[in-house]
Amino acid sequence: MKQIHLAAHFPGVNNTTVWADPDAGSQIEFDSFVHLARTAERGLFDFFFLAEGLRLREHRGRIYDLDVVGRPDTFTVLAALAGVTERIGLTGTINTTFNEPFEVARQFASLDHLSDGRAGWNIVTSSDAFTGANFRRGGFLDHADRYSRAEEFVTVARKFWDSWAPDAVLADVDNGIYVDPARIRTVEHSGPQFNVRGMATLPAGPQGRPVLLQAGDSDEGRAFGARHADAMFTLHGSLAAGQRYTADIKGRAAAAGRNPNEIKVFPAATFVLGDTVEAAAEKAEHIRRQQVSGPTAIAMLEQVWGRDLSAYDPDGPLPDIEPSGDTSITQGRVRHGDPVAVARRYRERAAAENLSIRELVIAVTSRQQFVGTAAQIADEMNRYVQADACDGFILVPHLTPHGLDDFVDQVVPLLQERGLYRTEYTGRTLRDHLW
Ligand SMILES: Cc1cc2nc3c(=O)[nH]c(=O)nc-3n(C[C@H](O)[C@H](O)[C@H](O)COP(=O)(O)O)c2cc1C
Repeated sequence: MKQIHLAAHFPGVNNTTVWADPDAGSQIEFDSFVHLARTAERGLFDFFFLAEGLRLREHRGRIYDLDVVGRPDTFTVLAALAGVTERIGLTGTINTTFNEPFEVARQFASLDHLSDGRAGWNIVTSSDAFTGANFRRGGFLDHADRYSRAEEFVTVARKFWDSWAPDAVLADVDNGIYVDPARIRTVEHSGPQFNVRGMATLPAGPQGRPVLLQAGDSDEGRAFGARHADAMFTLHGSLAAGQRYTADIKGRAAAAGRNPNEIKVFPAATFVLGDTVEAAAEKAEHIRRQQVSGPTAIAMLEQVWGRDLSAYDPDGPLPDIEPSGDTSITQGRVRHGDPVAVARRYRERAAAENLSIRELVIAVTSRQQFVGTAAQIADEMNRYVQADACDGFILVPHLTPHGLDDFVDQVVPLLQERGLYRTEYTGRTLRDHLW
């Protein structure tokens, strides 16, 4: 039997988190990060995961509803967490478009040292001009070039990580020699994106290089991940889609000369636990309605239609006008595809199932994959893993910071009883946990 891998997504930068719930806590205070990370560590998860938003999204000039309203710096948070956790991996999403390889390589090497080998990098390539306006060069990179820059970025970062020979630190105190410069290779790279001739300021961390994750679903994104990633983060959450995705990624890894087992697939997964099937279903329905309020449903349609739809009733039928094609109504958000085709699909589904605007949005943005008792959820997750739909899950709780408590208390022990999940951390580093 394959073992199940679990990771914990800190809520935010998504449409899942319900900040308005009376049980929702701060998304900025350190206590929230500590609670979620320690809960995941209590559950023996592979890693704690931070998504990244380099600019807060705006919808019609406002920061809207479920979107995160404050995002501390990833490295600062993970470094602080390294001090209050022992074994869990600490993975952060860092963009290759707006950063520099030297800085990122140095930050991850530092985190790997501070955490004793627990650093992970989720590589993303978002290049939109709205986000880029926060940086010196704005939206300088063509969307088509995002992965060629990422490729060069990782190549240079690896050169920095590999540049210190293992015996470069001599610590020959008697002779006043601590580091031997002859054992540190100069990093040289010349390409369309980077011209670097430099030196790493510290040796590689215990893992040599951080664990690399990749999120991005285009053909180039998958090819890039298959070449470089230790794990893929994906939204292909259903059984059939997960099987297709996993086969594709592992096939690409094998074609690139890698052992397909070396690359783990982690879909994002949400869950709703109840004492009975009925209680779980009722709770799931309640959460969905919290996640998609009437105004949220309208805002979501406005993203597709590119128009002010505030005059429409969320409990009424879909707009009968066509999308405008204007995509500027929402800034900083991943697009939904061709608006006219999406609108047609939505209308067809609403007509077939007799759905109001709000019901349609609830249906098309449905993210509750695992709903049931702890035993049912354990069974279902195992079914996915054994059927090669994935190797494990990055759990996305809808509440911070207590959203994982019940899962760790109720589902993890069942997975352990069935021999599907570790009963203690056997390795020291994040890479050890992934294997
Ligand atoms: C599951 C998943 C999670 C992602 N998380 C982030 C994120 O936290 N921050 C970000 O800037 N981009 C994120 N992205 C965007 C992608 O990483 C990528 O940069 C973008 O989709 C362009 O690549 P693509 O065309 O290959 O999809 C995510 C994408 C996926 C599929």
